[in-house]
Amino acid sequence: MEVLALQGSPRLSGNTQTLLNAFLGGLPSEAQIHRYNVSKLNVHPCTSCYACKNLGRCVISDDMKLLYPALAKHPLVIIATPIYFYGFSAQLKAVVDRCQTFWNNPQTRIDSRTSVLLLTGGAADKSRAGRDAVESCARIFCECIGAPLKHTLAALGTDANPAVEQQELLTQAAILAKELSAN
Ligand SMILES: Cc1cc2nc3c(=O)[nH]c(=O)nc-3n(C[C@H](O)[C@H](O)[C@H](O)COP(=O)(O)O)c2cc1C
Repeated sequence: MEVLALQGSPRLSGNTQTLLNAFLGGLPSEAQIHRYNVSKLNVHPCTSCYACKNLGRCVISDDMKLLYPALAKHPLVIIATPIYFYGFSAQLKAVVDRCQTFWNNPQTRIDSRTSVLLLTGGAADKSRAGRDAVESCARIFCECIGAPLKHTLAALGTDANPAVEQQELLTQAAILAKELSAN
């Protein structure tokens, strides 16, 4: 099984990476993991030029050329992001907006795949407002790429309780990965 993992935090040893590591660690050894730290890529924000609508493809030349084929076809897509002001990290949001081309050209993607959202947030978020806001953005994005969002796991309250200490959740992430790879 090919798995695309987009890690949206610029902190390469932070909470989001920890949660993503736990998830990927649950995949079988034969899984082919295509993992990207998005902050290390050169991805320009969408300029709303509408080339994707008029020409059928994005005309900005940058590292999205690595991600477009993977976003279009890998059966399992993992979106890992810290909550930034109730949204994705800016680095990940640039990737998300550049996927407007899949919205305009749905024939360029394979449908009926699966996405998983891995979230981390500093606040305890008792009202779930932060988690729900990011999840609803992720839901529309995952629809757009043809891999509807099936699961969300959230390490919240990381200011007081870093993800590395949320052992139960990390175990849950590994179990979810194992289950998804068995399907
Ligand atoms: C710019 C910025 C905005 C943030 N906004 C929120 C927020 O709205 N809600 C929240 O719970 N945490 C917020 N946080 C905290 C991060 O989500 C939290 O520390 C997260 O675990 C960081 O993950 P990382 O260690 O992978 O970078 C914010 C952090 C930054 C830097």
